[in-house]
Amino acid sequence: MKNKLRSSRVVIIGTGAVGATTAYTLLLRERISELVLIDANKEKALGEALDMNHGLPFTGGVKLWAGDYSDCADADVIVIAAGASQRPGETRIDLLKRNAGIFDSIIQNIVKYNDHGIILVATNPVDILSYVTLKKSGFPSNRVIGSGTLLDSARFRYLIGQNKKINPRSIHAHIIGEHGDSELPLWSLANVAGIGLEFSDADREEIFNSTKNAAYEIINAKGATSYAIALALDRIIVSILQNEASVLNVSTLLTDYNGVSDVYLGVPSIVDRSGVREVLDLKLSNDELTQFHASANKLKSEIANLDL
Ligand SMILES: NC(=O)c1ccc[n+]([C@@H]2O[C@H](COP(=O)([O-])OP(=O)(O)OC[C@H]3O[C@@H](n4cnc5c(N)ncnc54)[C@H](O)[C@@H]3O)[C@@H](O)[C@H]2O)c1
Repeated sequence: MKNKLRSSRVVIIGTGAVGATTAYTLLLRERISELVLIDANKEKALGEALDMNHGLPFTGGVKLWAGDYSDCADADVIVIAAGASQRPGETRIDLLKRNAGIFDSIIQNIVKYNDHGIILVATNPVDILSYVTLKKSGFPSNRVIGSGTLLDSARFRYLIGQNKKINPRSIHAHIIGEHGDSELPLWSLANVAGIGLEFSDADREEIFNSTKNAAYEIINAKGATSYAIALALDRIIVSILQNEASVLNVSTLLTDYNGVSDVYLGVPSIVDRSGVREVLDLKLSNDELTQFHASANKLKSEIANLDL
């Protein structure tokens, strides 16, 4: 019997590749009790809900329906996966204008019904849109979370695992900063059982480039990324609802963090029922610090052009 929280409701806004796959993942994991799907394209949300409901005889008792914003009233976690996704060749930042626009009405609709939940942003550029969500919702920063570099760190761990022939679950390694082209790997912290890992320069370059460019490669091949991001979102949601206090590289508001303030970036954070309970201090090398500041400055200059 899974450890399901009785009154846990998750709402997913945007039921495209990411939202629908996340819904399906939550359904299979059976850790929540209610799941609501909302999309500007109502037919799409209805179709996904119908299709998933027909699988319920094979899974547990998650109550699932296509709903509307009033269903946010009882939501514990509201996932935003709505909006434009990258087309082949586009960067995540290229999506900013289109997606910042739709966030206005999405956030307004959420806060009309909910003042207590946790908003989990997946839409890209995720760090900037998490900051936009913070400003527009008026929620405290612990309750506005971006999926950040959790997915990138998973890709990094997978590739290191391949290189070392070790299960990626046993690899501890972090990508921090922007979920995007300015993200950075923390090679000095990569370890197995506390034992540091050695890599040749060529291996480092190959592993990091494959991590950073994974989305471009997958989008070129199949049009969207969906499975790993859905598992990453499930991980964050379960850590929240089960009050796990797991350390996850989510995007969170930084305040005097390695000299960086007032921007959302992916860093190791303790995630529990309160949302982001605490950000862990990282001792960065001079090189890493320079890259981390560059990542922060890049996002801040984009934020400066927004009407917030
Ligand atoms: N954070 C991450 O690690 C990560 C990973 C993959 C994708 N993404 C991002 O997630 C977002 C969704 O990607 P996707 O592949 O699912 O796209 P998609 O095009 O398959 O789905 C987007 C859905 O959003 C809906 N939508 C659009 N405007 C809306 C609105 N105002 N209200 C409600 N619904 C609306 C559309 O109808 C569509 O169903 C993109 O921005 C993508 O870049 C993030």
